[in-house]
Amino acid sequence: MLYFFVNKHIKTTKKEKAMQLKSNRTFTMIKPKSVEHGHMGEIIDIIIKDGFKIVAMKMLRLSTADAQKFYNIHSAKPFFDDLVQSMTNGPIIVAVLEKDDAVNNYRRLIGCTNPKEAVEGTIRKKYGISISDNSVHGSDSDENAEVETYFYFSEREIC
Ligand code: CMP
Repeated sequence: MLYFFVNKHIKTTKKEKAMQLKSNRTFTMIKPKSVEHGHMGEIIDIIIKDGFKIVAMKMLRLSTADAQKFYNIHSAKPFFDDLVQSMTNGPIIVAVLEKDDAVNNYRRLIGCTNPKEAVEGTIRKKYGISISDNSVHGSDSDENAEVETYFYFSEREIC
């Protein structure tokens, strides 16, 4: 009897923790042009100073097939080929970030998709060149943050 009570209690606690972690995490990519121009240090500094904790990070080069898969949701859009081309131009940095309400707070920090429309002081305003080369990607929902995180990282790479 006591075993079932304790076991049930542990399960609930773990589930609650998992749900809490979900909204605490987002996923980002520093895009090839920002890496090429040496802006990654400044961008990471802005992210940390805004209160995000980096719980996973690595540098890699996307293959065309991987870029097409990652951005599959945009495959019918006219900008798809340009986007894939720009994302495979050079190395990128991918990272998982933690903060309360991470997705929304990070989207505020990076600004609008189009750097020209982004608010002064945002990452895309500072480092974005065009809509495709808009410096960084940020997940647009908790669900996508999870999918995008596990596109690049295994559980044991997340600290
Ligand atoms: P990102 O946050 O990486 O998510 C999808 C990307 O598609 C987006 O940033 C832009 O780089 C790109 N994108 C979205 N809308 C357009 C558009 N209208 N023209 C060109 N690229 C776009």
